Amino acid sequence: MKILMVTSEALPYAKTGGLADMVSSLSIALAKLGHDVRIVIPRYYPIDKTSLTPLPGALGVPMGGIEEWSAVYEERLPGSTAKKPVQVYFIDHEIYFGRDGIYGIPSQPDFIDNPRRFSFFCKAAFQLCRKIEWYPDVVHAHDWPAAMATVYQKFAERAPVAGGQIPGGFERAVSILTIHNLGYQGVYSKANFDYTGLGWDVYFRANFDDWDMMNFLKAGIFNADKLNTVSPNYAEETKTQAQGFRLDGDLRQRSKDYLGILNGIDTSIWNPAKDKYLGEKFSVENMAGKAKAKAALQKYFGLEVNPKVPVIGMITRLAGQKGVGELFGPNYGSAFSFCRDFALQFVLLGSGESWCEKEVAGLSARLTNFRAQIGYSEELSHLIEAGSDFFLMPSRYEPCGLNQMYSLAYGTLPIVRRTGGLVDTVENYDEKTGSGTGFMFDILDPSSIYNTIGWAMHAWYNLPEHIAEMRIRAMKQDFSWEKSAKKYVEMYQSAISALPAAGA
Ligand code: ADP
Ligand code: GLC
Repeated sequence: MKILMVTSEALPYAKTGGLADMVSSLSIALAKLGHDVRIVIPRYYPIDKTSLTPLPGALGVPMGGIEEWSAVYEERLPGSTAKKPVQVYFIDHEIYFGRDGIYGIPSQPDFIDNPRRFSFFCKAAFQLCRKIEWYPDVVHAHDWPAAMATVYQKFAERAPVAGGQIPGGFERAVSILTIHNLGYQGVYSKANFDYTGLGWDVYFRANFDDWDMMNFLKAGIFNADKLNTVSPNYAEETKTQAQGFRLDGDLRQRSKDYLGILNGIDTSIWNPAKDKYLGEKFSVENMAGKAKAKAALQKYFGLEVNPKVPVIGMITRLAGQKGVGELFGPNYGSAFSFCRDFALQFVLLGSGESWCEKEVAGLSARLTNFRAQIGYSEELSHLIEAGSDFFLMPSRYEPCGLNQMYSLAYGTLPIVRRTGGLVDTVENYDEKTGSGTGFMFDILDPSSIYNTIGWAMHAWYNLPEHIAEMRIRAMKQDFSWEKSAKKYVEMYQSAISALPAAGA
């Protein structure tokens, strides 16, 4: 199959979260299965174009009333092989993408022209295929910034546009939407719709309207041939009012075509036996490297280097979704209390909401066993996963979550809230039998976090044989992409077989 991934993020070029890891690692896994996978992504300003190959000529993209022009660059995705390549195309439009920030910058977290930037990008994806004369069987869009691709496909590429011709090439292509996070829908003034170049009848027929606003994700949900989210449990949760972010009814309406497929992890990057960032690699057979990583981590953060004191790690966007209000919120956050009361060390790597960055800096100043690095660091994230004993993820909601899977692979036991993909990947500890791979709680509030950390500390200090067994069990879990990539292939195939017969 020929598969085009339309995405606003992909590793190693542009990343704000797990979307970037997922798109690149899924693409590589599909290529390994023998499919021709290509990715299209904006050429954001920090992506160095001098190291890419330019395609000859410009790309014309007809938008409402105007023709936009862009350059296109390409290269083979690092991590994919010459035999099973994943080709990446970069859409280079100076006005839309020649600036810092993927979706925004700290002073303007959501760029005012995002509806235009991403509508343009989605239209450009189709024009790109025409330019390179490569027509996919599957156009696979990720999250709201790419959701417009499903609409273009249905109303402009596959069906006759009022009074016009079908430009051709996509009549037999199916559209897939993967929802990585229902909390971000792309809701803007509908005044932005004119720019899409689609008639206003399409605005209503495609179900954009959301209380008089234009909702990109909602339109994607209605117009994709098939859709999915990134874990089976989150797929169920999103169909409830409590977790549906107002789109639960729409998702229930599409439930026949709506699946949950668990993300995999890239085991060439996240594997303690091969990790290029680790001084000494480790595995179930030889755990000495983990102890070394712990010592290195303690040293890095200026903590007492002591194997007996448990280290709890956390790597996260500092956003409400991740439970940071309950952890670090002024007046009632639990981090201060559990660091004060338990013999543990806590290390955090993250960046995000400025109130939270300030609280975290305050905690570092007040507590000797709480250390944080604000910012983004691929290298440090590997050291935290490897060197910690526990990994904290008290998410409010979690479509899949990658960090708990990375943690399990490194024998670092997750302490998580029972939500979303965390339920599909972590098995709760049972003190009577010693079974499980992590520690879970239900209610997101400071005292539940405090108590669950207390429970993990109890096991650490009093039942060390359980901790050792859980570690080995965790490291033996298989979260590689193989199984899940096949489920994507099945979803693509079922969408293709549901197309009306040619000429019908
Ligand atoms: P989400 O996509 O909701 O943020 P995931 O768990 O799916 O959550 O993915 C988060 C990804 O981003 C992981 O690969 C994690 O290691 C990475 N990450 C988040 N914050 C940082 C940071 N400050 N430094 C390095 N990596 C980070
Ligand atoms: C989103 C979700 C996260 C998921 C990731 C990759 O960012 O918040 O749970 O793992 O996408 O699918």
